[in-house]
Amino acid sequence: MDTAERYRRFATMEVRGHSASYETLAAQIAVDAELLALIDRLPASRRQPNLLLGAVRFLGGPVTEYRAFRAWTVAAWDRVEQTMRGRFTQTNEPGRCATLLPLLASLPQPLALIEVGASAGLCLYPDRYRYRYDGGPVLGPTDGQVLLDCRTDGTAPLPEQLPTVAWRAGIDLNPLDVNNTNDVHWLESLVWPEQHERLRRLRDAVRVAQTEPAYLVRGDLNEAVGDLIAQVPDGATAVVFHSAVLAYLPTEARESFAETVRSLPCHWISNEAPTSCHPCKTACPGPHRRTMTCSSWPWTGSRWPSPVPTANPWTGSPDPPARSSVAVARGGARGFFCLQRGGLLGARGAA
Ligand SMILES: C[S@@+](CC[C@H](N)C(=O)[O-])C[C@H]1O[C@@H](n2cnc3c(N)ncnc32)[C@H](O)[C@@H]1O
Repeated sequence: MDTAERYRRFATMEVRGHSASYETLAAQIAVDAELLALIDRLPASRRQPNLLLGAVRFLGGPVTEYRAFRAWTVAAWDRVEQTMRGRFTQTNEPGRCATLLPLLASLPQPLALIEVGASAGLCLYPDRYRYRYDGGPVLGPTDGQVLLDCRTDGTAPLPEQLPTVAWRAGIDLNPLDVNNTNDVHWLESLVWPEQHERLRRLRDAVRVAQTEPAYLVRGDLNEAVGDLIAQVPDGATAVVFHSAVLAYLPTEARESFAETVRSLPCHWISNEAPTSCHPCKTACPGPHRRTMTCSSWPWTGSRWPSPVPTANPWTGSPDPPARSSVAVARGGARGFFCLQRGGLLGARGAA
């Protein structure tokens, strides 16, 4: 796909309905030969619309009107390019904890959480956030600063208690530091301009993480996950999870990750686009944008990577449910997830 098409698709398929300013800018960039030529000076992996638009905002450029955006961006191109070469799209969305929660709460407690592709690690605090499913009672610490408001559909077993987290750790190629002003500014610049609620949630979650920074290691998930599993405290249930990460990996690395994690004594929760997660590809019918799979340890061996896990991850029952679902937090935290037969969760709605 060429750069123009990439920006056109971003405008029509990703930001439409979520960010009017980005939709306009991306659609105009897609037909702007001079700007496209500048973007094409970057390696293909660094030409993403989110990276360019985030870099311009990070540097203080205007993103509301195309002429002003274009004039500023062309004039500041050296700095924009440097930022695009030096930074990655590392959007960190604590709202994803709302979909992870029922699975995490159903495992034997306490948990040792290991998030691969953790960015700043904001999904490593499911026990520190508050949750409200379908406008019901609020679940979580009374002094919690982050409230994840969620909508559910179906019969997902919503937890009555939060999981207990004994240990939290993450891996990222480039871990972001919640106590570093530039890193936090970068995270904020990645939130689309009209997503005010999402920005508020991010800032609140950063404050939570600042008081109890997670142990984040720099490295490739395939290489580093084994070392972290070896550090899990005795008596804690090891859970490896990831969300919006596998798309960044080449196919061989995804497959090797499936093998790596299957060789380790841990539960595995994958919250990914169906196209990025090999086991989900064939198992998630319909217009779903994301799927969630949960595999339990000890593994059921020969059944994996069967696209359809044999147990219901919500209940541990050997009988998969016919259908149930749970939503993700409102305010831009990505669509809703529905549990398909065999414990697969697919999301409809925003990417
Ligand atoms: C879109 S962010 C998602 C962050 C977080 N999981 C969330 O859901 O909010 C993807 C993250 O994966 C990281 N990443 C990509 N490839 C990786 C790899 N091979 N090993 C470790 N981290 C990786 C990126 O650096 C980035 O921080």
